[in-house]
Amino acid sequence: MEDLEQIRAELLAAVAAAAGPDALDAVRVNALGRKGRITELMKGLGALDAEARRAAGQELNSVKAAVAEAIDRRKRTLDDAALEGRLAAESVDISLPVRPERQGLLHPISQTIDEVIAIMGEMGFAVAEGPEIEDDFHNFGALNIPPEHPARQMHDTFYMKEKPDGSRLLLRTHTSPVQIRTMESTEPPIRIIVPGRTYRSDSDMTHTPMFHQVEGLVIDKTTHFGHLKGCLIEFCSAFFEVANVPLRFRPSYFPFTEPSAEVDINCSRQGNTLKFGEGDGWLEIAGCGMVHPNVLRACNIDPEVYQGFAFGIGVERLAMLKYGIPDLRTFFEADLRWLRHYGFLPLEVPTLLRGLVP
Ligand code: DAH
Repeated sequence: MEDLEQIRAELLAAVAAAAGPDALDAVRVNALGRKGRITELMKGLGALDAEARRAAGQELNSVKAAVAEAIDRRKRTLDDAALEGRLAAESVDISLPVRPERQGLLHPISQTIDEVIAIMGEMGFAVAEGPEIEDDFHNFGALNIPPEHPARQMHDTFYMKEKPDGSRLLLRTHTSPVQIRTMESTEPPIRIIVPGRTYRSDSDMTHTPMFHQVEGLVIDKTTHFGHLKGCLIEFCSAFFEVANVPLRFRPSYFPFTEPSAEVDINCSRQGNTLKFGEGDGWLEIAGCGMVHPNVLRACNIDPEVYQGFAFGIGVERLAMLKYGIPDLRTFFEADLRWLRHYGFLPLEVPTLLRGLVP
């Protein structure tokens, strides 16, 4: 019988030298296959006497096991290397920087709403939401605007198709219905703001059929008009980032508040420029007042116990004044050049800690 130690060494060397799966398979066939070297030697055992056969058999088996194990190990090494190679070849470099010309920017309306939320949030207001498709009760009735009330004409409402019962849903004409929804579902004290879209069938230099408001509502037992004034002055001071805001409260009328006022900000408009705090012009930014007892009653809140104030701020107006955007219609023309000029970096979330707009 050949020198088994020699054969073992040769076969193990061949296994180690196999550079790929095909070469390794050839080594396996050559050693362990039907006509392989070890198989042939196994066949030769029959010619030996019993004693010699057992000894040689044991030795051969150990060579066979060692070679088989070496092949297995080599196969795993080769498979791992192949996988590593594939992963490296197919990998995607996710560390590449964003292409600068693809950088998205936040619309000034989104930025303005985020700023309002940052300021009012700090003052203790929670954000509430409501549906944009409303019913008559929430948009008008509960706000002390009965059918035939002249205020309905002022709202140029978009109505849906009439339902079989004669009622019609509508696109909310203001964010005030969310006052009603909140008072229906929450026990006072209430302190909310409601940023959102509103709709009126109106389109010219200073009106777009869709625009944005931020409603505010505070209800508890002792809130009075002084709090309302303080709240809005404080808000404007933080929003416009000036200590003394050029602002005036002008007596007004809303069916859902008594007394009512409108808030104007001093500004100049010359040709195509709008400047905050200059000249002798005024831009109305909000309506406000003390919540009418009829509104509290419509929400099952006792006006003998509770009172409070409400306001509705025009978001576009705030943005125009702060960012010097003279034409309302440009907000919704989706002109990328305009957005590149007036847009905001999306990850610079407004906070009062480091100034609203870095
Ligand atoms: N809802 C009014 C509008 O859209 C704005 C408004 C005025 C809201 C006075 C209020 C308020 O909450 O108290 O014209």
